[in-house]
Amino acid sequence: MRRILVAGNWKMHGSRAMVQELLEGLLAGTERENGVDMAVFPPYPYLAQAQSLLENSNITWGAQNLNPAPKGAHTGEVSPSMLLDFGCRYVLVGHSERRTIYGESDENVADRFDAALEAGLEPILCVGETLEEREDNLTEAVVERQLDAVLNQSGVAAFSRAVVAYEPVWAIGTGKTASPEQAQAVHAFIRDKFASRDDIIAGQIRILYGGSVNGSNAADLFAREDIDGGLVGGASLKVEDFLSIRNAVV
Ligand code: 13P
Repeated sequence: MRRILVAGNWKMHGSRAMVQELLEGLLAGTERENGVDMAVFPPYPYLAQAQSLLENSNITWGAQNLNPAPKGAHTGEVSPSMLLDFGCRYVLVGHSERRTIYGESDENVADRFDAALEAGLEPILCVGETLEEREDNLTEAVVERQLDAVLNQSGVAAFSRAVVAYEPVWAIGTGKTASPEQAQAVHAFIRDKFASRDDIIAGQIRILYGGSVNGSNAADLFAREDIDGGLVGGASLKVEDFLSIRNAVV
């Protein structure tokens, strides 16, 4: 049985005061276990604050990116062991904003995935097509290419300690959610792809949906067979909104 994971990607938002208020609110709202896993992804400078507030709670945390190198002359970058030092369990890799704004290639994303796993972090691999690609009927081809880059480098067994997030680029921050049918179709395609290599991994792997998830659409999305939770941007920045997504799971 796959547990639902609701993950909040804060992107480049936050301040010490906001982190304090948001995390205290989430802690209060999740005291009672409801079978849903929760994780937050603050910007790097707030990981220490997240660690001190969330340690020994039901909420886990991770980083939004990492550099695959263990250490060295990489000004401005953060290594896998640094994330472990601050108690991170997860790390996002290949978010579409990293791919498009910061030029991370499929190979580069595969290197980050591999380094995260090697270090003992659980990577959340983000994949998804642009609007243009969807309109050109390239959704499956794009998602497959992005998955293959990682599968070919790390192997299918690596996914026993990883999560996949399907985030159609056209649904991110636009208020335009993929319909539950559209999302489910791509999630099923992703799970089938794993099944062609390993049935057990395919049955276990959590595949999250991301793109304008909120308290009103979460229940319908998470009820679909192959949707195992959400990677939430905007709605993860407010206590009420984020908790309403968690509590939408029945
Ligand atoms: P929104 O929920 O703001 O659309 O962002 C989704 C996302 O990119 C999460 O990683």
